[in-house]
Amino acid sequence: MDHSIIRQFNFPAIIRYGANVVKELPSYLKQNHLDKALIVSDPVVSSLPFFKAIVSDLQSNGIAVEVFNDIHKNPVKSDVYKGVDLWDATQRNVMIGIGGGAALDVARAMVLRVNHREDLFKYDDLIGGDIYVTNEVPFFITIPTTSGTGSEVGRSAIIADDETHQKKILFSPKLLAKIVFADPMLTMDLPAAVTAATGMDALTHNMEAFIAKNDHPICEGIALEGMRLIALSLEKAVHQPDLSARGNMLLASMMGAIAFQKGLGVVHSLAHPLSSLLDTHHGLANAVNLPYGMRFNISGSEDKFRRMARALELKEETGDAVVKYLFELNTKVNIPHRLKEIGVGDEHIETLADLAFADFAHPNNPKPVSREDFKQLYLQAL
Ligand SMILES: NC(=O)c1ccc[n+]([C@@H]2O[C@H](COP(=O)([O-])OP(=O)(O)OC[C@H]3O[C@@H](n4cnc5c(N)ncnc54)[C@H](O)[C@@H]3O)[C@@H](O)[C@H]2O)c1
Ligand SMILES: [Fe+2]
Repeated sequence: MDHSIIRQFNFPAIIRYGANVVKELPSYLKQNHLDKALIVSDPVVSSLPFFKAIVSDLQSNGIAVEVFNDIHKNPVKSDVYKGVDLWDATQRNVMIGIGGGAALDVARAMVLRVNHREDLFKYDDLIGGDIYVTNEVPFFITIPTTSGTGSEVGRSAIIADDETHQKKILFSPKLLAKIVFADPMLTMDLPAAVTAATGMDALTHNMEAFIAKNDHPICEGIALEGMRLIALSLEKAVHQPDLSARGNMLLASMMGAIAFQKGLGVVHSLAHPLSSLLDTHHGLANAVNLPYGMRFNISGSEDKFRRMARALELKEETGDAVVKYLFELNTKVNIPHRLKEIGVGDEHIETLADLAFADFAHPNNPKPVSREDFKQLYLQAL
């Protein structure tokens, strides 16, 4: 790292963490004179008992609640517009995202749109749109219910175009939540398959951030500890969940998201087109591609792989051992090794390679990735 270059290191919002911390929400709102909440969630989460308990707890404390849950699995622009229509019609003063990455991303995009009414994709970070995020934004609170994306501590929202399904990134430091209530009790009943896929997404964030080419030693330290917690807890969280395993996964997912401000890499670029083309869950798409993408990255990053092997507490401290571990972990948490098993066919490969090469994540990969590399990686994983 070149210490003569001046850099800026940013760290996230206040995080209130621990079992049942969500019970602090009503008093927090009252202290901040926020009495008209719009909760943004998804159709599944908003039907769960813990969600209903949060709503009735708020109502019994005199806080008016509206719920918006009409969102897609991979959220699109019209979801955001519909949600903001409800915000306008009901005159709210606080936005609360409760859910996985999909709901939290929609909530964050709505936070942006409330006072920025140009076309949503004018603010796309990839075309420099973040400079137009200049107005005030509403008070924003996040409450994660999965342990994967870490979107609760993030400053960006990934929203797709309704027609093309191309994913855009809305980014601004203003989109950081004022406070996160990270309560592992809300993740206790997460189904095994979602736990596995979201947990592998968190592992992918920590690993890709650790080896990403930008300099950020603070993020690298966080990423190594994030990997260690996942190695310790993912299998248990999937098969015999308890508070300790669930809590470690929730912390590790936030650590992954904090770490990936350093950058992501080839695995996320392999994964994104699967979601846009085939509607594959983001975590599952990463999980299947992770061992192949990491194998691609070993040469030139041997020392980083040795340090990852150490964090994962592997006997052999090599890149090959890390890749073998990832295949075995996928087996243990019932994630397939082959893209064919998640609906990818030979006919998709060329389009996937085009989309992956155009994706925003791989420029920070430790080594360059060509379109042909993407094609070969998909073929290896097929
Ligand atoms: N903002 C970011 O930095 C960032 C990073 C990576 C991914 N993402 C986005 O996040 C999304 C994926 O998020 P995710 O992996 O959390 O999945 P998700 O939000 O789609 O949730 C997965 C499933 O689990 C259900 N669920 C959530 N919490 C539950 C609970 N406690 N109990 C039972 N079921 C529950 C949901 O209803 C959904 O069906 C994608 O849209 C992706 O693009 C955002
Ligand atoms: Fe991710």
